[in-house]
Amino acid sequence: MTAPKSRVFSGVQPTGNLHLGNYLGAITKFVALQESHECLYCVVDLHAITVWQDPKELEHNIREVTAAFIASGIDPEAHIVFNQSRVSGHAELAWVLSCVARMGWLNRMTQFKEKAGKHRENASVGLFTYPNLMAADILLYRATHVPVGEDQKQHLELSRDIAQKFNTDFADSIAEHGFDETFFPLPEPLITGPATRVMSLRDGTSKMSKSDPSDMTRINMMDDADSIAKKFRKARTDPEPLPSEEAGLKDRPEAENLVGIYAALAGVTKAETLKEFGGGQFSGFKEALTGVAVEKLAPISNETKKLMDDPAHIDAILSDGAARARAIAEPILRQTRQVIGLLTD
Ligand code: TYM
Repeated sequence: MTAPKSRVFSGVQPTGNLHLGNYLGAITKFVALQESHECLYCVVDLHAITVWQDPKELEHNIREVTAAFIASGIDPEAHIVFNQSRVSGHAELAWVLSCVARMGWLNRMTQFKEKAGKHRENASVGLFTYPNLMAADILLYRATHVPVGEDQKQHLELSRDIAQKFNTDFADSIAEHGFDETFFPLPEPLITGPATRVMSLRDGTSKMSKSDPSDMTRINMMDDADSIAKKFRKARTDPEPLPSEEAGLKDRPEAENLVGIYAALAGVTKAETLKEFGGGQFSGFKEALTGVAVEKLAPISNETKKLMDDPAHIDAILSDGAARARAIAEPILRQTRQVIGLLTD
């Protein structure tokens, strides 16, 4: 088996409005992992269409996520950046894995329940099988590590269960073909740091999300300095001053969220943040928060805009990334077909 010891895969949906949760929960981790791992970063357009997307906007959003990746510091030459639909192996392996995964497993996925809401019967079949496609994304490259925000934890657990069941169901065939018994490695989620679950600025108990109808709930990566300042100024807080220790954040979800955001942006811990700001009022802290957020996000949004002026360049990056992704995926897909007993070229 030629798979390297470790390989990172992760994806972001091109559904518009990349926000601070995406940036702190995922993209900053993507950037850091480039130092130590071979990385594939995927704009998961097939996931996006589980909910209807305007085709023109989808094209724009695929390019914008790509541009944001690069502007944030992802190197598309040293690593691989591509859009999912360009590598047809994702869809093929998703089908195979949908025959391995059990209905009961997918029925337990809380994100489907949240997204489908009361209109479950009306949700697309794709939305239901979405976590199965996620498993295919990861296993198609035998990725070992997957940086994600907290909200994807359950999906990652499902990916591990699917990999395990495949390895067990086909253990004899895997051995007969002389492949490693861990045919699909069980991918490890990387959910670390002070901002693995960034919450809404208006309600510290609900997640910051692209789909929240109110733009005041989130800091978008493309927001200008004035909007960032206004949104933090208006962010909900409680009347108490900031505590000096982490224990004091208990039952104060809004305070905990803002402290976590500050810590992640400034590259310090929550404890260090509270040492500096504990005892003070939120107004001063919010100014400091705006300062670090603008310092981090302004160069990225400027660079993203610049890159978006040359869509042909972005398309060339995606096309080149897809070719390199395919080269990794093809032998793994071929082995998968062989192991199952599907005649293949
Ligand atoms: P998506 O596009 O919703 O989000 C992209 C990444 O951002 C993280 N994230 C957050 N982190 C912290 N706080 C938040 N409020 C927040 N909101 C989003 C997500 O956890 C994610 O890491 N299903 C995935 C995309 C995907 C994928 C994959 C990920 C498809 N295939 C394979 C890993 C591996 C999703 O919808 O992410």
